[in-house]
Amino acid sequence: MLEEHRLDSKVHDCAAFDCGTPVLNEYLARFATQHRRRGIAQIYVLVDSSLPSAVLGYDTLSAAEVHTAQITDADRQRLPRFPVPCFRMGRLAIRKDHKGRGLGKLLLGLAVDRCLRAKEEVAAYALIVDAKGERSKSFYEHFGFTPCTDPPLTLYLPLGRSFESGCVLRSLA
Ligand SMILES: CC(C)(COP(=O)(O)OP(=O)(O)OC[C@H]1O[C@@H](n2cnc3c(N)ncnc32)[C@H](O)[C@@H]1OP(=O)(O)O)[C@@H](O)C(=O)NCCC(=O)NCCS
Repeated sequence: MLEEHRLDSKVHDCAAFDCGTPVLNEYLARFATQHRRRGIAQIYVLVDSSLPSAVLGYDTLSAAEVHTAQITDADRQRLPRFPVPCFRMGRLAIRKDHKGRGLGKLLLGLAVDRCLRAKEEVAAYALIVDAKGERSKSFYEHFGFTPCTDPPLTLYLPLGRSFESGCVLRSLA
């Protein structure tokens, strides 16, 4: 059975994780635990309960803000001129031999769900993601994320809109 856990370097074998993107492998192996301890990012890993040490995928979530100049004209109209709070999923990666099986969609949906719950306690306008290239950008666009006006590989999903339209959550059902 698939389970999502908070990263625990005593349990999860980070060094063995390979998503095919060296910078994302290196992050999990070298920096993720430090970032979690220092309050820079929370790291969630996806494992199979039959072998919980093997990381099948991971994502990171942090508090952030977005300048409204980065938001498209249509969405900006209802926003103040100062930067607005958001959550940032800085990284999302699936083990290369498990791609194409819905695990990326599952982690993304769990992250959106977590943000929707968190924003009941601490306000946030959107979930921001940083794509690593055009292919991952199109992955996020597939789920309703909109590219920021700048930088173009940063995308956002207004959390109110995602909840109302269920664009990510519905696709998980
Ligand atoms: C991008 C990544 C997370 C996708 O994970 P995955 O598990 O292979 O994707 P899924 O199987 O969950 O795909 C879910 C849906 O997204 C679609 N999809 C997958 N990759 C896509 C892409 N590049 N562009 C558009 N749609 C894409 C699938 O067709 C599927 O659609 P459906 O649900 O309508 O059938 C994964 O390929 C990965 O780890 N890539 C390397 C690291 C990376 O680029 N991370 C993202 C930026 S940090």
